[in-house]
Amino acid sequence: MAEHEPPSSFDQAWSLIVLRSIADAVITSDADDRISFLNPAAEALTGWSLEEAGGRPITEVFRLIDETTGRPIDWPRTEVRRVKSVLLIRRDGRTLPIDDSISPIEDEAGRRSGTVVVFQSIDDRRRAEEELYRTHVELERRVSERTAELAEANAALQGEVAERTRADEELRRANQALRALIHASPLAIIALDGQGRVTIWNPAAERMFGWGNRDVLGHPLPIVPEDLRQEFSSGLATSLQGGAHAGHETLRLKKDGSTIEVSLWTAPLYDARGEPCGRMGVIEDITERKRAEEARTALLRRIVTAQEEERLRIARELHDQMGQHLAALMLGLKATIDHIQNPAAAKEAQRLHDLANRIGQEVHRVSLELRPTALDDWGLQTALTNYAADWSARARIPVQSRFVGIDRRRLPSPVETALYRTVQEALTNVLKHARAARVSLIVERRADQVLAIVEDNGRGFDVEAVMGAPDAGGRLGLLGMQERVALVGGTLEVESRPGGGTSLFIHIPLRDEREAADHG
Ligand SMILES: Nc1ncnc2c1ncn2[C@@H]1O[C@H](COP(=O)(O)OP(=O)(O)OP(=O)(O)O)[C@@H](O)[C@H]1O
Ligand SMILES: [Mg+2]
Repeated sequence: MAEHEPPSSFDQAWSLIVLRSIADAVITSDADDRISFLNPAAEALTGWSLEEAGGRPITEVFRLIDETTGRPIDWPRTEVRRVKSVLLIRRDGRTLPIDDSISPIEDEAGRRSGTVVVFQSIDDRRRAEEELYRTHVELERRVSERTAELAEANAALQGEVAERTRADEELRRANQALRALIHASPLAIIALDGQGRVTIWNPAAERMFGWGNRDVLGHPLPIVPEDLRQEFSSGLATSLQGGAHAGHETLRLKKDGSTIEVSLWTAPLYDARGEPCGRMGVIEDITERKRAEEARTALLRRIVTAQEEERLRIARELHDQMGQHLAALMLGLKATIDHIQNPAAAKEAQRLHDLANRIGQEVHRVSLELRPTALDDWGLQTALTNYAADWSARARIPVQSRFVGIDRRRLPSPVETALYRTVQEALTNVLKHARAARVSLIVERRADQVLAIVEDNGRGFDVEAVMGAPDAGGRLGLLGMQERVALVGGTLEVESRPGGGTSLFIHIPLRDEREAADHG
């Protein structure tokens, strides 16, 4: 517009079309700040129509306040100004956030001839911004939430890893302890797989049997004697069905070809699914122990024999020597009494005679207790009959005795003694504990064994409690009987219950005697 031509009517019409159709609100005022034009967008935002607003002061239609302070904003007359955070007060009093720009219109001479206000509602933008802000905040929140979750998961994971490490360490330690135990064990420890091949062979196994680790690992067990293979196979089968052995006594082979007696303890080994897949065996060499047991039994036998011999000697001494002296004393006293004149002295002599008689009876009883000569001279039946009669008279309890098949042939002397002593102790127990009204005694010889039964109808007792007690309270009776009977290869069984009487069953095998007789 270098020519400063007045705007042509075409220009005016064109401007009008543009102003009417643009989305921005446009208000123009003249030099007196009175409204000259309002486009439809301005009409809509202010609430004023062009018709109503035309000619009014612009400050009446375009009223602005500062959003932050709430104070009215002065109408700028001269300078160009952009105001931020501006609220337009609409005609109906409602406010609307807007973005505006105010430009002066100047004529050719540079004088202000009016003002153009261009503005638009930023309500939508605001809302969008707010929405954006909220979304942002929400996003932040979610991110921090998720971050916290992740941190938590991470901590849990780390905990798990630590726990796993600890468990691994524990497992390692347990494994290590087990290895050390197997290595240091004084007992042979041998593990077998399902096919009976050796998987563990500890140093004690090497010491016990002579084969080294390298000779046996992965191979069948070399220590089973030929004639025990069957037993071994069925034992392994038992393990593979989940069974176990506890203290099974058997024989095992050494590398040098000799055999040792062992006690075997086994437990099945299980695979990951819990199926038996082999077995662990612990083996103790009991050869020495067995030898010691045998030595002990032999010693006990000798002690018992020596004791019986000693008793017999003392009993004989008492019976023969002392008995004869007492008999002589009594005869002497009897003869003297007849010649004594003094009645007091005669009475005294008679008292001494009776005393000597009682001593004689006592000596007889003691020697019978010690070792009845009848046992050696006449055999078990006579000795027991005498003893039972004597006991019955003393205890005032009838004894019913029955002997079957033992009067024709004497039993071996150790068997006779064992039976005699056992019956003696049984009758002593009846007297001490049973309060019985009757006792029955049966001794029966059978083809290959002798059986004795002592039965009373007394008050009985709890066998388990008495025999199983860890401390028998110094009692020797029942245990002594058992030992004695065991020395001649026999067994003693006790049947009793409180209120139900007591029965003792003594079984002694006679095979040895026959063999001895055959060979002797
Ligand atoms: N015939 C019986 N009737 C009732 N109780 C009995 C009989 N025999 C044994 N007992 C009970 O069994 C226990 C053990 O008997 P055992 O002969 O071993 O010891 P003891 O007789 O008490 O002592 P010891 O025989 O050493 O002198 C007795 O204390 C008693 O309680
Ligand atoms: Mg007793």
